[in-house]
Amino acid sequence: MKQLTLNGSAGSSDILIAAGLLQTTAAQCARVFSPSRVHIVTDSHVAPLYLDAVAQQFDLPVSSTILPAGEEYKRLEAVEGIYHDMLSAGMTRKDLVIALGGGVTGDVTGFAAATFLRGVPLCQIPTTLLAQVDSSVGGKTAVDLPEGKNLVGAFYQPRLVLIDPTVLETLPDATFIDGMAEVIKYGCIKNRGILDMVRMPHYRENIEELIYECVKIKRDVVEVDEHDTGLRMILNFGHTIGHAIEKIGNYTAHTHGQAVAMGMVAAMKIAQQLGTNNDLDDYLSSLLQEVGLLVDLPYPREAIFKALLSDKKKMGQTVNFILVRSLGRADIEQIDVETLHQMILSI
Ligand SMILES: NC(=O)c1ccc[n+]([C@@H]2O[C@H](COP(=O)([O-])OP(=O)(O)OC[C@H]3O[C@@H](n4cnc5c(N)ncnc54)[C@H](O)[C@@H]3O)[C@@H](O)[C@H]2O)c1
Repeated sequence: MKQLTLNGSAGSSDILIAAGLLQTTAAQCARVFSPSRVHIVTDSHVAPLYLDAVAQQFDLPVSSTILPAGEEYKRLEAVEGIYHDMLSAGMTRKDLVIALGGGVTGDVTGFAAATFLRGVPLCQIPTTLLAQVDSSVGGKTAVDLPEGKNLVGAFYQPRLVLIDPTVLETLPDATFIDGMAEVIKYGCIKNRGILDMVRMPHYRENIEELIYECVKIKRDVVEVDEHDTGLRMILNFGHTIGHAIEKIGNYTAHTHGQAVAMGMVAAMKIAQQLGTNNDLDDYLSSLLQEVGLLVDLPYPREAIFKALLSDKKKMGQTVNFILVRSLGRADIEQIDVETLHQMILSI
């Protein structure tokens, strides 16, 4: 079993990674928590696959909330439903909430746990690749508003994160590939060895090692900048243009991973314009396409720029833009809005 500890401002998070870990959920939780009851939140796709397998391990009363699957349900209404279910189950501040699912379940449940009775202990069990390498670690929780994604949330570290790569076997292939965009992102910003592993023909056989390397980067970055005011921004490589693409597509035309893949290649092209003469855009395009991701920008450049301008990362007349100048090394660059406009028009 691989193990990492994230030391956050309000305590530490144990992150365990091992095939078969799901089968030992209750034993792992008993090492860390002392609840009288457990509430599991999951979604309608994950519940039939894994809810009973987790719930039946506890010798305690277990209740659950099954959210409808999908980003469109990442709403305050879902959080309120969880509060009501926890109240009717008699949950107190000493009890345990488990988020069992992808990034949507993790974000909604994390926010519910952060706010119910001003905070109840939380265990994340991520079941998508994206959630395993990214969203379950680091303590960001959120829900969407009609005005935009992730506009309401809290920083709230799970005390325990249980990552079992075998649950990825039931993921639709497209959802797995979506998560690979984030894996490749980590390689670009911090560890080119990840990219070498992804280049191997049977890289999926090494998924546990890949997850570990990605989570280690996320842990290191979050420990330095838990509240996202500096270094943590490097995790947004490819996301500035990616978010613009998601927004134009009304969050339904492209998945997050697809949009990030396109955004990373565009960001590499922008790095070239700023004098990084290294053909990394070609290298990255071919790697992303090898794993099954698309890389060409799907909208007119002007529309992408306009959507990007309304993004929350814009600060006055400059935009924080993440540039990868060599594989494994990222910088946060403040780029003047008009300069960025011209660069986007010419990629
Ligand atoms: N908190 C953070 O730091 C952070 C970071 C990145 C992304 N996010 C958020 O994560 C969300 C996206 O997460 P996601 O891609 O995991 O989406 P998701 O939670 O919607 O999961 C994708 C789909 O896979 C299904 N699924 C999950 N696990 C499965 C399994 N093992 N087998 C079969 N089906 C399974 C789900 O039911 C869903 O239909 C977005 O809302 C994004 O904002 C948060």
